[in-house]
Amino acid sequence: MTPPAPGAGDRPAGLRSSQWYGGGDRNGYIHRAWMRRGLPGDAFTGRPHIAIANTASDLTPCNAHLTEVAASVRNGVYEAGGIPLELPVVSLGETQVRPTAMLWRNMAAMATEEMLRANPVDGVVLLGGCDKTIPSLLMAAASVGLPAVVVPGGPMLTGTFRGTPLGCGTDVWRLSEEVRAGTLSDDDFLRSESAMIRSRGHCNTMGTASTMAIVAEALGMTVPGVAGTPAPDSRLLEAAHGTGRLAVEMVAADRRPDRVVTRASFHNAIVALAAVGGSTNAVVHLLAIAGRLGVDLTLDDVDRTGSGVPLLVDLLPAGRHLMDDFHRAGGLLSVLREVRDLLDPTALTVTGEPLVSFLDDARIWDADVIHHREQPLVAEGGIAVLRGNLAPDGALVKPAAASPDLLQHRGRAIVFDSVEDFHARIDDPDLDVDASSVLVLRGCGPRGYPGMPEVANLPLPKKLLAQGVRDMVRICDGRMSGTAYGTVVLHVAPEAAAGGPLALVETGDPIVLDVPARRIDVDLPDAELLARAPSAAAAAAYAAPTRGWERLYVDHVLQADTGADLDFLVGSSGPDVSRESH
Ligand code: FES
Ligand code: MG
Repeated sequence: MTPPAPGAGDRPAGLRSSQWYGGGDRNGYIHRAWMRRGLPGDAFTGRPHIAIANTASDLTPCNAHLTEVAASVRNGVYEAGGIPLELPVVSLGETQVRPTAMLWRNMAAMATEEMLRANPVDGVVLLGGCDKTIPSLLMAAASVGLPAVVVPGGPMLTGTFRGTPLGCGTDVWRLSEEVRAGTLSDDDFLRSESAMIRSRGHCNTMGTASTMAIVAEALGMTVPGVAGTPAPDSRLLEAAHGTGRLAVEMVAADRRPDRVVTRASFHNAIVALAAVGGSTNAVVHLLAIAGRLGVDLTLDDVDRTGSGVPLLVDLLPAGRHLMDDFHRAGGLLSVLREVRDLLDPTALTVTGEPLVSFLDDARIWDADVIHHREQPLVAEGGIAVLRGNLAPDGALVKPAAASPDLLQHRGRAIVFDSVEDFHARIDDPDLDVDASSVLVLRGCGPRGYPGMPEVANLPLPKKLLAQGVRDMVRICDGRMSGTAYGTVVLHVAPEAAAGGPLALVETGDPIVLDVPARRIDVDLPDAELLARAPSAAAAAAYAAPTRGWERLYVDHVLQADTGADLDFLVGSSGPDVSRESH
């Protein structure tokens, strides 16, 4: 039997790709002819075309295995009658990209959004892993408004060094502090390097990558139960296969991100973030994703929703175990089952069913890793939002990763005008610093650096490390790695480079941190503080790019308290393109 000529037959109304492939005219011919390459003619007659937005890259080693994951997605798409189309998108390797991967998150989101809109696709499967990749993909999907579902690439297996498990990132900070304290030799430090990354996958701590996989699932944007599945685990490929099938169904149901992810979904994501003790970076990403969807989410929602939630997951950097253990112990669904009463039952998932409908069968298999509600690690988890004359628009602190005795603290500021200034002076034996001092670093916000790097967990002065000091209050307008820990007040908004009062602080000023009262202040009359001129030395170090992406970024980036998106990328443009290419 002769298959119908493409372009000539009846087509189901409504498939976006049929705007390209549906015509019997010259343009329809062009769109089909270049794509056929062995595909049957019926590939263009009403079968949904599913993009697989793939952040696999050799330079994003945490995501390099996603091409294999994509193959499983493809099988699922074909099986359900769709046409899978792999779309390589901008990829960001957290450890490699300078000056910070965060500078490029919005570019990755913008490029992905535009390429999805520009191409004849009906839905998209988003493959991410390393820190910024899932946030950028979710921002893109929200703004283009096509049915979309995430497959998180999964954490790596636990590596060990001399019999001891290594937590990615966290143990780099810990071991390097030991070297600085003189309790670990340089040679032994370097010997641990080849053991740090045991397998494919992203960092195995509750860092930003693990957190964002969990956040994506809690938002309803993954197949429920997949977040935290280790990258080498064959169940990840099974989930990828199922996700491919689901993407085809989602197109038929027109299940777009704005129909899945609502205010209720953000509520659940913040509960999840608090219960697992996730990265502070999730806050800036959640705010940015909400901004794309037009959901009115604020820092106060993050504090209010998260602060009553018990911390149940004992993972590095705040605790002891690693993502492999988390998955073995029952994963996110078992955590959410414990806090079910705190979740919004109306929030949906990409399946069309509510998130809470997937909790009944979840069990905790190892209560040492995932605690029951009755034995929380910390009764009140969450990320606290501070305000005060030092951070009028807000700043964050993660109490569970801080020292309890520093949560209310008064100390003398030691101010650094740039990271270079910090590195030049922090180990100076003559630096007038003691354990009660407050280290202040400015110029590290979205605009000042540019890109808001992960530098807020400042290394402590060598001489204090040698005395056994392991934590101090630190304040910064930058971020810190999700794998880091300490009493760090970060994401200070507005940043110094955007006219924030952080630019007015001087060494010697009394700083008062009061986390229970949610305050961060310089103990000076406001009039005295505001009468000062901003630090000229800090201003001299702010980024002043003259062209290219950095220029566009610095001219348009918003502050951390609203998600550090570019002003013109907030919101959504939908999937329509009105004009033809020929
Ligand atoms: Fe990629 Fe940590 S460096 S997830
Ligand atoms: Mg990171």
